[in-house]
Amino acid sequence: MKITTKINLYTTAWLLAILLLINGVVFFSFMKITVNMEEQAVHQKAHSIIQVLNKKPGHVYSDEILTSYLTNHSFIRIIDAESKVINQVRNDKHLNKFKPHFSKKTESNLHIIHEEQGEEQILIVRVPITSQGKVTGTIEIGERLLGLEMRKDILLSILTFCTVIAVLLSLLGGRWLSNVIMKPISSMIKTMENIEQSGVPQQLVINTEKKDELQKMATTFNRMIVRLQENLEKQKQFISDASHELRTPLTVIKSYANFLRRSDVKDHRLSKEEAAETIYSEATRMQNMTQSFLALATSEIEKNVHLKPIDLGAACYQVLEQMKEVYQRDITFQHDQQTLFILADEAAVKQVLIIVLDNALKYSMSTIDLKMMKKDNYALLTIQDYGTGIPSSDLEHIFERFYRADKARSRETGGTGLGLSIAKNIMKHHNGNISIHSEEGKGTEVELKFPIWEMD
Ligand SMILES: Nc1ncnc2c1ncn2[C@@H]1O[C@H](COP(=O)(O)OP(=O)(O)OP(=O)(O)O)[C@@H](O)[C@H]1O
Ligand SMILES: [Mg+2]
Repeated sequence: MKITTKINLYTTAWLLAILLLINGVVFFSFMKITVNMEEQAVHQKAHSIIQVLNKKPGHVYSDEILTSYLTNHSFIRIIDAESKVINQVRNDKHLNKFKPHFSKKTESNLHIIHEEQGEEQILIVRVPITSQGKVTGTIEIGERLLGLEMRKDILLSILTFCTVIAVLLSLLGGRWLSNVIMKPISSMIKTMENIEQSGVPQQLVINTEKKDELQKMATTFNRMIVRLQENLEKQKQFISDASHELRTPLTVIKSYANFLRRSDVKDHRLSKEEAAETIYSEATRMQNMTQSFLALATSEIEKNVHLKPIDLGAACYQVLEQMKEVYQRDITFQHDQQTLFILADEAAVKQVLIIVLDNALKYSMSTIDLKMMKKDNYALLTIQDYGTGIPSSDLEHIFERFYRADKARSRETGGTGLGLSIAKNIMKHHNGNISIHSEEGKGTEVELKFPIWEMD
């Protein structure tokens, strides 16, 4: 069942239930109040008759007096203590079947009789007649409540008519309301179906004047689509950049391999050993590149890296020893305290250090200074080199994937331009920060900032 139909049916059913309840209360209250009023009127009449009769000497109960009080479709009887009728006037034969009944106290009864034209209510009221403090008889008045039946029928018709109209209006209103509510949802479903069919993310058209939950939902949906579009764009860009980067070493490898295939052809400009060496170095470059791709993909996806307290000083020391060994270069390490604990993934932090130190080593020739210090709630690591530096126009781009400041020289140094973007992602997952200050020709300083982990 459609959600609009469901909303419509449920609200109408609920309204109908409420209306029936209200109708019941109105109907029964009306009946009760009307009968009470009738009862009061008849009691009043009985008391008036008794008063008039009491004024007469010797309590003469004449028909004349009683008739003057007789209304349509009623009877008035005077009954003695043995339930015998002393006097009686009546103008409705339907009331004959009610037997006279002596009563010492005031009472009223409602009887229902069934006639051809339907049910009818008869009200019988008895009021005792007293003389010198003794109950000597009863005045009994019976009335057919014809007006009541008519009013009951009119009330029932009005209530039924109003209920039907209310149900119809509720059905129409509910339909309109559910359409209003469902409109943005329907358009969202349509957009989603389009996205599913075409595979192209699309945004919803939003009415900016409204500020309801559905509008919020549409805005969130659009934000999600924008993120999706951005990610798709990034993915596309990454694939095209990566294939472009891989194409260069592959072309070199292919041409050198081709040279080796035609080994009969004498080429004095190139030896077989040189060709093999070039193929080997290009293949190594490709291998490093694919490793960087993997590292980048991992650093972008792994938002929930397993963080635990690690000693940053010890991690720096281990990386430095390793780098000094490989590069045979001078790297100094200064720290104002031996240990500084941070919450981190040790392998990832070491990777950042390697990326930054590798750059410092690649783009400078002299010493490199590494400093570790505590500043407020942060552990700061600065890596200073005195090399080529980065032109200020390039500085804002160096964290972009595949970006290299000096393309020609970078090619010599064999980089892919991925190192810093990997480092930035890793720092982000550690709630840290990486920033670079550089002056062309003088050198570069990289600053790594990690929140300090304090033992509770
Ligand atoms: N210490 C530095 N001195 C001078 N230039 C630097 C330094 N660090 C980074 N750069 C510039 O920033 C660019 C981007 O650095 P990044 O580490 O991202 O890539 P890469 O070193 O070229 O390649 P790889 O992916 O192998 O690290 C480098 O190509 C270089 O031009
Ligand atoms: Mg690098």
